Amino acid sequence: MSETIRKCLFPVAGLGTRFLPATKEIAKEMLPLVDRPIIAYGVEEALSAGCREMVMITGRTKKAIEDYFDRSFELEEMLKARNKTSLYDEVISLAELADFIYMRQHRPLGLGHAVLCGEPVCGREYFGVILPDDVMIARPSVLAQLISVHERLGGSVVALEEVPQEETSRYGVVKAEEKYPGIFAIEDMVEKPAPMTAPSNLAIMGRYVLSPSIFPILARLGTGSGGEIQLTDGIKVLLEEEPVWGVIFKGRRYDCGTQPGWLAANIQLAMDQPGLKEVVLKAVADAQNS
Ligand code: G1P
Repeated sequence: MSETIRKCLFPVAGLGTRFLPATKEIAKEMLPLVDRPIIAYGVEEALSAGCREMVMITGRTKKAIEDYFDRSFELEEMLKARNKTSLYDEVISLAELADFIYMRQHRPLGLGHAVLCGEPVCGREYFGVILPDDVMIARPSVLAQLISVHERLGGSVVALEEVPQEETSRYGVVKAEEKYPGIFAIEDMVEKPAPMTAPSNLAIMGRYVLSPSIFPILARLGTGSGGEIQLTDGIKVLLEEEPVWGVIFKGRRYDCGTQPGWLAANIQLAMDQPGLKEVVLKAVADAQNS
């Protein structure tokens, strides 16, 4: 378990327009993934990587996230009275295991700007970043895999996955040289390049260990791809000053930032759970026969 990275930042201010109307009044991070909200997977990952301070960069309509990671007196009393001890433990555990800090991103200026909003809390030490839309199932967790590279080699670290060339325009993409098996020294990166101009097909997935030197860089960065302040552009400047490593992580990734990805993740994760596999298979068979 990491002694070095105590804080993990979660950018959760996005409006979730891809999930409208479901997300008109609730945060997309609160949509359920089988038995818990999407955000809970990210927080559990950060906990298992040793982080104990969760820094949520929030916006309007995100109040349910704060309530979810708080104690709920009425619910706890009801579960206790009904002897539902395992549910009781589950409900209180996340609220007890970490400190939750909430900061507002007042304007939707992009991922780089969201990270910059965390400077007052994260500005003095290396910190983790989890984009909760990318749900990662891995052991050790993907953030823990990144932290162990940071502890071994120093510098910042991003998670990488090979993607089909035609998908490069959905991601930050790196130019990098493999120095150790699965570990790349990053030389350049570009946000959402067209397939023809992408420097490789190694894409950044939503996990980072970042140096606090990123903050002054983000503060003076202009807008980039999509008219937003891009984290990828900030890390590109950072790597002129400090090493940045890329790690091909081991584990499964589910893209819960789109409706098809979220739906597929629900089905696939349900298939892993005892008792639910049969339910999924029967529902699919029934749907095909109707
Ligand atoms: C963000 C980052 C991008 C990264 C992606 C991973 O993009 O800007 O570099 O590859 O997350 O999911 P977004 O998905 O917010 O457009």
